[in-house]
Amino acid sequence: YKRITVKTLVDMKANGEKISMLTAYDYTMAKIVDGAGIDVILVGDSASNVMAGHETTLPITLDQMIYHASSVVRAAHRSLVVVDLPFGSYQSDPKEALRSAIRIMKESGGHSVKLEGGKEVKESIKRILNAGIPVMGHLGLTPQSIYKFGTYTVRAKEEQEAEQLLEDAKMLERIGCFAIVLEKIPAELAKQVAESVSIPIIGIGAGPHVDGQVLVLHDMLGMTHEFNPRFLRRYLSMYDEMTTAISQYVDDVKSQDFPNESEQY
Ligand code: KIV
Ligand code: NA
Repeated sequence: YKRITVKTLVDMKANGEKISMLTAYDYTMAKIVDGAGIDVILVGDSASNVMAGHETTLPITLDQMIYHASSVVRAAHRSLVVVDLPFGSYQSDPKEALRSAIRIMKESGGHSVKLEGGKEVKESIKRILNAGIPVMGHLGLTPQSIYKFGTYTVRAKEEQEAEQLLEDAKMLERIGCFAIVLEKIPAELAKQVAESVSIPIIGIGAGPHVDGQVLVLHDMLGMTHEFNPRFLRRYLSMYDEMTTAISQYVDDVKSQDFPNESEQY
């Protein structure tokens, strides 16, 4: 396989080919995702929820993101690996943002970084881009700002917020981001954004008129079962299937069915 690069993604948009993206946080899962033909693997800070059980994405550290990312990079032979800059690793000033991005690139081997926000983080993004590190933007619902908004409901339904989002997207393209994630915004607005910029727009809960889709791996596999937003399509019911398998194992141990004659030395 030929390695997907940031250039490939921009070409895909130009050619009208949709971009597939999923999260992964460890080697074994990333190996499956990469082998199945995904275009982009996101080492999301959703690892804070999915891997560590935190209620928000805020607690995960840069060191922890680097650990997850390095595991994913060892498995990704074809896909482009994007790594989230965690909360607190880029908001103070552009120099800190660049230092954090450099740590991710050097210590994990990831291929690019993603960070949340528009004009507030413009200077930080420019610094990172100046160092030759590709940056993916993230607008709309930005989970690192949850305490500012108070809820995870749909964003940019009001005219003013929608206009700001469109402006931010154009700015991100202008300064050199290679793609933008749009999370949980009206499909019509997402369509307008995708038509207004030539870099790929990857949606999650942003409707079909964008250039690609992203989901959290454990959600689409049905490993998690308490999170049920409208945009989530589940392709498996792994929570139920794993529960069945594990309780079968428990029963087999208790009943001494396992191990049998051929499962011993
Ligand atoms: O951390 C994450 O999983 C994300 C996606 C939802 C885009 O940022
Ligand atoms: Na994220």
